[in-house]
Amino acid sequence: SRALKPVVSVALQNGAKNFSTTSEMKIKVAVLGAGGGIGQPLSLLLKQNPLISHLALYDIAPFTPGVAADLSHLDTPVKVTGHKGPEQLCDALTDSEVVVIPAGMPRKPGMTRDDLFNTNASIVRDLTLCIASCCPKAIIAIITNPVNSMVPIASEVMKKAGVYDPNRVLGVTTLDIVRSSTFVGEINGVDPRTVKVPVIGGHSGITIIPLLSQSQPPCKLTDPAQIDKLTKRIQEAGTEVVKAKAGFGSATLSMGYSGARFCNAILRGLKGEQNVVECAFVKCSLAESEYFATPITFGKNGMDKVLGYGKINEYEQKILSQAMPELLKNIKKGVEFAKK
Ligand code: NAD
Ligand code: LMR
Repeated sequence: SRALKPVVSVALQNGAKNFSTTSEMKIKVAVLGAGGGIGQPLSLLLKQNPLISHLALYDIAPFTPGVAADLSHLDTPVKVTGHKGPEQLCDALTDSEVVVIPAGMPRKPGMTRDDLFNTNASIVRDLTLCIASCCPKAIIAIITNPVNSMVPIASEVMKKAGVYDPNRVLGVTTLDIVRSSTFVGEINGVDPRTVKVPVIGGHSGITIIPLLSQSQPPCKLTDPAQIDKLTKRIQEAGTEVVKAKAGFGSATLSMGYSGARFCNAILRGLKGEQNVVECAFVKCSLAESEYFATPITFGKNGMDKVLGYGKINEYEQKILSQAMPELLKNIKKGVEFAKK
């Protein structure tokens, strides 16, 4: 499914190094939920990614072919196709090597991410069932909330279908890292793109554990009360946006940006680039839970290595212990739903 193209040097987006290859393998990417608040800006960014040959946009919304027609007018070489309704899903998925899923309901003020479970669990289950039959080897990047439960659901569906590869089912937590870099960049008075802060655990409230002690360059805050305040701001940043949007959804633009960055990391790994690092919520044995957000590297089969989180301080150890029961509960809920 990958077309071989002549030698090129491509400038990869989002801070990636210039990177020459002897043969350029172009890749089909499907976005499921492409008509939504995240799906549209995410697709806009992916249309500009030189590693993609074909972008298949799928949504149940009737205007999806219109989104595809609109994007197809951008003067980039990526072919864009629009697919609406379940009968067109397999067309979108066939030959896709990466499938990004932002399909599902967003929060309204007063809701937790777990309150989305009942609506979004069956959406992710049904989409994953189609992936299992139409493109079982695709790398799946799950944005839909609650991520802590959706990754276990997708994994169980793939297991039942006999096509599960834990390296290919990834929960997208990049927005937590993007926010941490932004906030520390503001505090330190530096370009946030030069700041790296690993975020581990999961993607909801207290399960979001920013490792500010590992910030590079070091975060200027030293007072424990200020560190605690910043940690809570990162954990509640999604809620900050939900409140500010006052009933009209949650983070979409910053998530589109973060989703495109995560997708680019997958693509760079597929192309054989080494040492591409992002955090993701993945199956691993780092903690008591079956799934955990951690820095990972990418390769030709999706996740290549679990890098782990190294040395953490007493405060981070405490908030991690406090988060674990919630994370275990979220994961169990997803596994039990899929096993039903
Ligand atoms: P949205 O309502 O704007 O868009 C969702 C889209 O999904 C809609 O176009 C809808 O038609 C589509 N959809 C619904 N059911 C579908 C199905 N069965 N198949 C295909 N498409 C379907 O919502 P949004 O703001 O784009 O958010 C989407 C999801 O992403 C939410 O669950 C939200 O909580 C989550 N989210 C996650 C993160 C993260 O960091 N992982 C960040 C922001 C939002
Ligand atoms: C976020 O972190 O912005 C997303 O998970 C959306 C939400 O509901 O907060």
